[in-house]
Amino acid sequence: MPDITFVKPALPKGGTLALPLAEGAALAGLAKEADAAASGAIAKALEAAGFKGRKGQATTLWAIGGYAKVVAVGLGKDITPEAVEAAGGALAPALAQDREALVAADGLDAALAAQLGFGALLRAWRFDRYRTKEKEEDKPKLERLAIATPNAAAAKSAFAPLRAIAEGVFLARELVSEPPNILHPTEFADRCKGLERLGVEVEILGPKEMKRLGFGALLGVAQGSAQEPRMVVMQWKGAPRGKKRKPLMLVGKGVTFDTGGISIKPAAGMEDMKWDMAGAGAVVGAMAAIAGRKAKADVIALVGLVENMPSGTAQRPGDVVKTHSGQTVEVINTDAEGRLVLADVIWYGQERFDPSGIVDLATLTGAIIIALGHEHAGLFSNDDELAQRVMAAGAAVGEACWRMPLGEPYDKQIKSEIADMKNVGGRPGGSITAAQFIQRFVNGKPWVHLDIAGTAWSGKDKPTVPKGATAFGVRLLDRLVKDVGEEG
Ligand code: BES
Ligand code: MN
Ligand code: ZN
Repeated sequence: MPDITFVKPALPKGGTLALPLAEGAALAGLAKEADAAASGAIAKALEAAGFKGRKGQATTLWAIGGYAKVVAVGLGKDITPEAVEAAGGALAPALAQDREALVAADGLDAALAAQLGFGALLRAWRFDRYRTKEKEEDKPKLERLAIATPNAAAAKSAFAPLRAIAEGVFLARELVSEPPNILHPTEFADRCKGLERLGVEVEILGPKEMKRLGFGALLGVAQGSAQEPRMVVMQWKGAPRGKKRKPLMLVGKGVTFDTGGISIKPAAGMEDMKWDMAGAGAVVGAMAAIAGRKAKADVIALVGLVENMPSGTAQRPGDVVKTHSGQTVEVINTDAEGRLVLADVIWYGQERFDPSGIVDLATLTGAIIIALGHEHAGLFSNDDELAQRVMAAGAAVGEACWRMPLGEPYDKQIKSEIADMKNVGGRPGGSITAAQFIQRFVNGKPWVHLDIAGTAWSGKDKPTVPKGATAFGVRLLDRLVKDVGEEG
């Protein structure tokens, strides 16, 4: 990961120079100076290369104006924080083979300069823990990205919380990327313990405690696996004394591998089900971000961690389980396991913490991918105000959500003949009936459910998100806490 530093505007003698440039604007400041020293060669070369300054456009010029390399990145026409972040993101692959580079961001104020560094950092991350044979020339080398901006000290302060958020994003991406033989529930819980370093209180509950609490739904999912389940309860108490309010509660689905259980999934693509813990990963990443930047709010996070396996001890289609809430569930399909895990964890969290609101994240249904593709997470809610706030937080950080309906007729689809409900409602509206199931475990609190099955993983690079684990939800939740929990 490169070190991001902020320095006074001055042109370096040589090396690699990066120029963030607005669309259709003449070169100014340091860029103009560098171009003048090169007798106009930089402007000429950029034009010849077709560089227009469009948002995220990147063009590399070699051996020019005394520099080994000049990289121009487009800021587009409106220089918004999002556009600057995307330009920073575009710099990361363009500079991957340089040890260091200077960004001539003298035209950007401190906040935007920090945002540019944030974008570069987010995009530069990669997961290389299990590569042992990568060639030296293929490894990314960027160690230091110096961003030249008039108020370097202010940019450095503005960058500090962004760095904490990036750390949260990286933690979530790492958890989601880890293979399922390594990241089983016990290991996931141990990694949550790492948040104590940031001042988060972390408690881990095992099967004995959960049995005592009557977590029949979560334990039913876990019973086919040789790996013990865990529930992790994390508390960040950042609200200043005298400003204590009911905390926001975050809940994540943490199925460290989902084979489907006895209702087993087809072989093709099953390896993707290692990221069936992305909801839990996002919640843990968000706690790291919130604690890392010392948010002035109280936030509770709970994750339910299980492995869903078929075996002689696995639950059967047709089993009836009793949840922590007392309600019974007929398990028609053992592959609809996420909702069973969330049912017990959400009920427990409400009883214990009396939260102001609940946001759960889960890679819950394939149906949400059919409905919304990979561009929006599905948002379900019983409360228009909280729904609106989550939508707004997502829109502000590039994690888009789309509101889906709930209602009585959908709820009817999960009626059981022999228990209080069944765990599937048939193919029509599959992500909605899944949300209806969860709502049965919401006890009159404002609640938002985000189905992130389509957004937790990306098959293509995005400006600030390399392909693979996206950490979708970390930035949204951090922003929600900032806008809701820390206001006033
Ligand atoms: N983890 C899956 C959902 C999923 C599918 C996430 C594809 C990401 C990509 C979930 O546990 C599941 O298996 N859901 C079933 C529900 C069905 C049995 C009612 C599904 O979506 O097929
Ligand atoms: Mn499943
Ligand atoms: Zn699942």
